[in-house]
Amino acid sequence: MQVSEAIVTRSSCRAYGDKPVSREILEQIMDLTRRAPSAINLQPWQFTVVMNDEVRRLGKKLSRALGERGFSCKPDNTEPLPEVYGERQAELGRLMSPLMREAGLDRDFINTGSLNFYGAPAVVVGTLDGAFPPERALDLGFALGWLLLAAAEQGLSSCPIGLITSYGDVIKDFLNIDPKRKVVLAVALGYADPDNPINRMRSPRAEMDEVVRWY
Ligand SMILES: Cc1cc2nc3c(=O)[nH]c(=O)nc-3n(C[C@H](O)[C@H](O)[C@H](O)COP(=O)(O)O)c2cc1C
Repeated sequence: MQVSEAIVTRSSCRAYGDKPVSREILEQIMDLTRRAPSAINLQPWQFTVVMNDEVRRLGKKLSRALGERGFSCKPDNTEPLPEVYGERQAELGRLMSPLMREAGLDRDFINTGSLNFYGAPAVVVGTLDGAFPPERALDLGFALGWLLLAAAEQGLSSCPIGLITSYGDVIKDFLNIDPKRKVVLAVALGYADPDNPINRMRSPRAEMDEVVRWY
């Protein structure tokens, strides 16, 4: 598979089939992930790969925490957002709502589904050494981007799950991760359920001239 094909065909998958992902495939993906560039080659990341029953057990803990704390998916902006971002968020909702209705999913699906990793059989949790400022999460962004493309090459679907950062303490406790590390992002991995309407979701992108400037 060409890199460009992986980039164009990848989309976030929110319903997975039961088929597990083999350890061998996960190792190949992690081997490519760790090759990502990082500032001063610091490689400030650590990845915890969670598989099968452990994913389900972690999902149960997170779902309980969601019930208690109620933190949900949101942009986490620190200042009022320019209108364009509200419009993009609304467009996503407009496109997703009919698919959610068709699939019989309730309005809270993105929150409950995210914390259940959408039923994926494998999850990679990316953490940043707590000694670094939040900017170094950028390095993890590269590596996890590599991971999404490496997964696509293996015929796997994926979904980045940012919501778990609000429940980082639960994740660290369950996975025995150094309390000083910051949970940056998880990625759900597995084989897409082709029959679930939610997997027909394709998020649009702003036009080139909206996001690219030339001088
Ligand atoms: C940093 C980050 C965090 C995300 N967190 C979530 C999440 O918690 N739950 C979810 O369902 N999707 C999450 N997503 C997926 C985005 O909604 C998705 O990437 C976006 O709508 C574009 O769609 P696409 O990935 O299908 O191209 C996240 C994506 C990124 C990059």
